[in-house]
Amino acid sequence: MSSSFTCLIFLLVAVGCYHSANAQVFTLAQCPTVQVVSPFDADKYLGTWYNNRNYFAIFQAGLDCITANYAKNSDNITVTNTGFNIITRSKQVALGSARVVEPGKLIVNFPGSPSSQTANYLILDTDYESYAVVWSCSNLGPISLRFAWILTRDQVPTSTIVNKALAVFQKYAINVNKLKVTNHNNCPA
Ligand SMILES: *[C@@H]1O[C@H](CO)[C@@H](O)[C@H](O)[C@H]1NC(C)=O
Repeated sequence: MSSSFTCLIFLLVAVGCYHSANAQVFTLAQCPTVQVVSPFDADKYLGTWYNNRNYFAIFQAGLDCITANYAKNSDNITVTNTGFNIITRSKQVALGSARVVEPGKLIVNFPGSPSSQTANYLILDTDYESYAVVWSCSNLGPISLRFAWILTRDQVPTSTIVNKALAVFQKYAINVNKLKVTNHNNCPA
């Protein structure tokens, strides 16, 4: 058996295992070079955003009506992610914190998850008032692990706004077909 074939099998198994443990989007390519919003006005970014669509993330599995709130505190930014269980409708809240490390680049940490030392929340575009395009990508050998979110200020944004946000990912050939739309109908109050 050729060694490249062995490697391919190993890779498929490794990716398969990792995928089932923690399913985001894996791509057999390195992270694209992206540009972030710079200058970035963190104060204008604060407040509540609706999770419009994203790559499947294990920590959001089984939830809908997902929102993210960013609030300034003395040290950094308090992140409150809220979602509702699709079946029981019980509210799930994840409290984390964020800090701006460079314009448009944040480190976001949640207690209980390994804390990141490098920016893991890149804002590729935002007008602060209607949409934000958020990206995270890590290279793992020949593959990359990708997270992508479109956040909107309106619970039900216009297609013009969504298309504008999608176009930002498309500019970098980031696969938008794997973005899953978050239900925001009949959300608990
Ligand atoms: C935010 O500040 C708190 C308190 O100082 C700290 O524990 C936490 O790690 C900070 N978060 C980030 C992402 O730096």
